[in-house]
Amino acid sequence: MSEVLADLHSTEFYHEQLGAWHKNIGMSLGYDLESLGEVGSFPVWLLSQRQTVPGPNFLIAGSFHGEEPCGAWGILEFLNLRLQDFHGRANLSFIPLVNPTGFNANRRTNDLGQNPNCGFVQEAKDGSPSVEGQMLLRHEDRLLELAKDGFLSLHEDSEEFRTYMYSFERSDKPGRFSYRLMNTLREHFPMVPDGVLYGDTIKDGIIFNASDGSYEDRLFRMGVPVTACTETPVTQPPAARIACNAEVIDTFVREHQ
Ligand code: NI
Repeated sequence: MSEVLADLHSTEFYHEQLGAWHKNIGMSLGYDLESLGEVGSFPVWLLSQRQTVPGPNFLIAGSFHGEEPCGAWGILEFLNLRLQDFHGRANLSFIPLVNPTGFNANRRTNDLGQNPNCGFVQEAKDGSPSVEGQMLLRHEDRLLELAKDGFLSLHEDSEEFRTYMYSFERSDKPGRFSYRLMNTLREHFPMVPDGVLYGDTIKDGIIFNASDGSYEDRLFRMGVPVTACTETPVTQPPAARIACNAEVIDTFVREHQ
């Protein structure tokens, strides 16, 4: 962990650590590490199982926004410490670091100044997809299969000391899916109180079914039954955010098997 804290924003170091996990553990668990394409000089990696098992399919992504590093690091922590608990019972796939150029620069956008988590839904009118977004759209059939039973995107809020989340469910109000994730977040950090946050109504820490053109919005519209974007607070210590995100993934998978 101390190594990670010193190099929280090195994409090269992150990819080295991910590669080491794949070589030492992932390959023996049947995981393939493949590039979805390159952004700048960096690949965007997809980790998925070569052979699926009977059980649900979940896709988990980290660090769409480069100043939100502990999504990517939380995924690595989950892979190292918790993945084996689920091995053979669910098909888990990961895009651990969606925005490698932003991550490397500790900057929200990619090197072209584009926001990788917008432009996915035409009606949302929030711009057009970034190069990372176009890459996800090119692989959409495959990614929809990997996310067939749920999608989780680990974000962070760079202004906040408190936590909250966005979720999408096929109901009028948040159900067990949203509340279990929120309960895990709340065990780690204070929660944003009820009211309005960035123009959206927030209740019990949850902004619910608010179409915003994000990737979680798109996958929900494309038929994924539940999607969520969690927000850990960047003004809190990285180690706490990483531990929280590893546990959020655990809850996401455990509650939906
Ligand atoms: Ni974000």
